[in-house]
Amino acid sequence: MNGVRIALPKGRLYDQALILLAKAGIRPAEDQNGSRKLVFPDTDLHHEFVCLKPVDIPVYVESGAIDAGIVGSDILREFESDVYEPLDLQIGKCGLVLAAPDGAELAYDQHLRIATKYPKTAERFFKAHNAHVHIVKLDGSVEIAPLLGLSDAIVDLVETGRTLRENGMRVVEEITRVSAKLIVNRTAMKMKAAEVGRLTAKLDAVVYAKT
Ligand code: PRP
Repeated sequence: MNGVRIALPKGRLYDQALILLAKAGIRPAEDQNGSRKLVFPDTDLHHEFVCLKPVDIPVYVESGAIDAGIVGSDILREFESDVYEPLDLQIGKCGLVLAAPDGAELAYDQHLRIATKYPKTAERFFKAHNAHVHIVKLDGSVEIAPLLGLSDAIVDLVETGRTLRENGMRVVEEITRVSAKLIVNRTAMKMKAAEVGRLTAKLDAVVYAKT
């Protein structure tokens, strides 16, 4: 492999990431649907894809085990990853919000219990509001926590708003906008400058194509 090793996020971003790469002329060599293979080349046998859980992507890219990756800004901010972010890919757009059950009044001077997959981001947000909170770290289905009395509110991603609606919750405040980024290892940015530059330029042309 003389191209770039690229980490792809399993889950909700996966299909959008593949569509973007395909528009840039970079395609997996085989149909990955139904496959359990985690590493596979592109059709030109130039680049290599590695499928990972989104939270693990900055870890691999920061270490240099993988040159580049596609991952949400929510994860990059939470883990304060030390990687280059040459391009906002304009996919996976959503909001990271504070949400509470319908009808519940939240006051920042109460000692709120907050369930979230994003403890550091939530801590920063409440610190900025001079609020003391107890963070309950969860790994998924965070919306259930207030319903079962585990927390007063949640900090979580909202895309369509359907999960909140169907669980009787509402957005109290948007903490930040989120979208997927192309990230690159700091050494790879120098050692593979030409390859990384070509990849970034191809994706940039697709993302910001005038239609
Ligand atoms: C995300 C997020 C919300 C949901 C929001 O969860 O954590 O639960 O999507 O999407 P919506 O506003 O379009 O309903 P995800 O599907 O990634 O799974 P998880 O709850 O296991 O983290």
